[in-house]
Amino acid sequence: MVLRGRITVPGDKSISHRALLIASISQGTSVIQGLSSAQDCVRTMECCAELGVEIEKQDSWTAVVDGKGLSSLQEPWDVLDCGNSATTMRLLSGILAGQDFFSIVTGDNSLRNRPMKRIVTPLQLMGAEIRGRQQGSLAPLAVQGGGLEGITYKLPVASGQVKSAILLAGLFAEGTTAVIEPIPSRDHTEQMLAAFGADIERDHGQVKVKGKTALYGQSVDIPGDISSAAFFMAPAAVLPGSDLVIENVGLNPTRTGIIDVLQAMGALIQLENVKSSGGELRGDIQVKGRSLTGTCIDGDLIPRMIDEIPIAAVIATQAVGKTEIRDAGELRVKESDRIKVLVEELGKLGAQIQELPDGLEIVGPTPLKGGIVQAHGDHRIAMSLEIASLFSSEPVRVQGTHCIDVSFPEFSSILHRITS
Ligand code: S3P
Repeated sequence: MVLRGRITVPGDKSISHRALLIASISQGTSVIQGLSSAQDCVRTMECCAELGVEIEKQDSWTAVVDGKGLSSLQEPWDVLDCGNSATTMRLLSGILAGQDFFSIVTGDNSLRNRPMKRIVTPLQLMGAEIRGRQQGSLAPLAVQGGGLEGITYKLPVASGQVKSAILLAGLFAEGTTAVIEPIPSRDHTEQMLAAFGADIERDHGQVKVKGKTALYGQSVDIPGDISSAAFFMAPAAVLPGSDLVIENVGLNPTRTGIIDVLQAMGALIQLENVKSSGGELRGDIQVKGRSLTGTCIDGDLIPRMIDEIPIAAVIATQAVGKTEIRDAGELRVKESDRIKVLVEELGKLGAQIQELPDGLEIVGPTPLKGGIVQAHGDHRIAMSLEIASLFSSEPVRVQGTHCIDVSFPEFSSILHRITS
């Protein structure tokens, strides 16, 4: 089995959420190109529409947003349904905390089990009234916003979503809001706020935003999603004879941990046509396959590839020697407990994989065997298991793959096109 060809992947999901939300609270029109086709981003778009924002889809990847400015969102008629998307719920809650009206956010079974105290606490400190199940730990969350004051907040966990929720709330607060990060997390919110005219500063692990400064609509061109590209890049790297180019992929250094890890394992990866727009790097990724060796993934690398750890674990089953993944306890509170689920499902296929409290230990290379495995309603587990099936000469059936649409509806058709 090899992966060959020249492909593009749909727009970055993280940046798409931010473009829709920030355009909605800016003055004037924004044109967003390269929008992700993910169901998660459809949820964000629908929530913005419920708040009175007019969004016109010109085609599948282009949206024109007629922004309401900082003070003209409308109280929603109904509960805002974020589906499976924690990014929608957490970032939107930051904006809702700044609104002088009442709103409720909820989501599907998985999202209603994910930790929300991490945003509720700082937003309450800023002055928002928020209630949720289990003392504000779980959605649905009821938000009575408005009257916010800037705070300085040290994040207890490295999280792009929590940082973004606080910064977005800070746009509506009196004075300055500062977020201190223990380890840098993705910085798309900071980049995009700066491009939309926010008064935002970054200095030594601290981000500061000044409240009540108007934002202005912009043209945004979103690069391809490295988290989607990873599902092809990683198997191409370990399958000798593969030669794959993925064009126009986002290469923001806060997201490229997977490239660093594959290279540390010995992968042949080259970046071409690298350029910057709107503060975001992008370029083409060329991958040629060869045998890889195990590695250690921990520390600052974890937030830079948090969503790519499931596919990295699959690749580690094919690498020579031991791969240790540490400091990744956050995986337990994603769309599923990804540590537990990876051990369970890859174990069914014969992988040598062990659970650690904060990660995984994998020994390879192991030719995987056939079997029936479960996606556990988690899109990245579903795609990781589909890729694992490439390393088995026997049939592997992944049950529950419909959840892939949450982030990457085009996954199966692209995979089909490049595998032979
Ligand atoms: C995201 C941040 C990460 C990531 C998620 C998207 C974002 O979550 O896992 O898929 O868009 O900010 P955390 O902030 O919880 O680490």
